[in-house]
Amino acid sequence: MLTVMGATGNTGKKVVELLLAAGQQVRALGRSEPRLGALAAQGAEVLAGDPGDAAFLTRAFRGASAVYVMLPADRESPDYHEAQRAKGEAIIQALRESGVRHVVALSSLGADQPEGTGLLVTLHAQEERLKALENTNILLLRPASFFENFLDALPIIQHQGINADAVEPDHAIPMIASRDIAEVAARALVQRDWSGIVVRELLGQRDLSYREATRIFGARLGRPELDYVQLPPEEMRQAMVQAGMSETFAGLYVQMTQAFNEDRVQPRAGRTADNTTPTRFEDFVAGLALDSANP
Ligand SMILES: NC(=O)c1ccc[n+]([C@@H]2O[C@H](COP(=O)([O-])OP(=O)(O)OC[C@H]3O[C@@H](n4cnc5c(N)ncnc54)[C@H](OP(=O)(O)O)[C@@H]3O)[C@@H](O)[C@H]2O)c1
Repeated sequence: MLTVMGATGNTGKKVVELLLAAGQQVRALGRSEPRLGALAAQGAEVLAGDPGDAAFLTRAFRGASAVYVMLPADRESPDYHEAQRAKGEAIIQALRESGVRHVVALSSLGADQPEGTGLLVTLHAQEERLKALENTNILLLRPASFFENFLDALPIIQHQGINADAVEPDHAIPMIASRDIAEVAARALVQRDWSGIVVRELLGQRDLSYREATRIFGARLGRPELDYVQLPPEEMRQAMVQAGMSETFAGLYVQMTQAFNEDRVQPRAGRTADNTTPTRFEDFVAGLALDSANP
């Protein structure tokens, strides 16, 4: 049995599907049984509960040969750090009490640094908690920004005819397909072929700037002229709050973009054949089912 957190999300859903396709028994976790229905129909055991509830997670992890863990981001939480800390502690308690020996943990590029990276600081803290677990083999996956983040930009593209963020337009980032993260995670959960604490940085197929990615995304939307506009940090923060995100989440997000702009979120190992993943952004956008959302 392999247990997967965040099973309705970007990476978790794909991890579950890959494991089922490989004939594995899978326990898929989320907060809502109906949302997990499609995975149940594919053969997963589904368990609904709060990812901040250590007793729920302990039940879900117990008996698993390996688990996939993550800190789902709560964009509306008035105290983001506290919300992530509480979920992080619940995961650690459940890992201790369930006695799971192999853990694949979704972290992020930049999580090597204890401060100055906004949202990523909570992932650094979680890495440190995981590293302190005894007798547990931990694989820390550190991907860069997901291609899927561009889907979050659809409303602004629709309403304002631009893509906007606070990252510098030509700053190249090794953006990655969540599918490629899931492939690495699923393989590790099945093979359990590492021991101790192992960090694996995951970069996309190539470094890509927001300007270039916006053009490619725009072409897929039938808007080849779509422009990327860099917002000043404060304007970006306000736009996020107006869109319903909490002040703390928006502030930390903007701090993270500044860390990108200042080259403080970097792969420690540089780019290598081993940390480069296959999916091109062009192929990702070609595969999107956008018809209903297409502005
Ligand atoms: N996006 C990026 O560019 C990026 C880059 C590096 C690292 N990361 C990290 O990757 C992790 C997220 O991974 P992911 O993208 O695979 O997952 P995800 O799609 O963001 O979320 C996974 C699941 O979490 C649940 N969820 C949503 N909001 C929640 C909330 N407020 N409280 C509790 N659960 C909630 C949802 O499931 P249900 O609603 O069905 O329960 C969702 O399907 C985060 O830790 C993030 O920091 C992201």
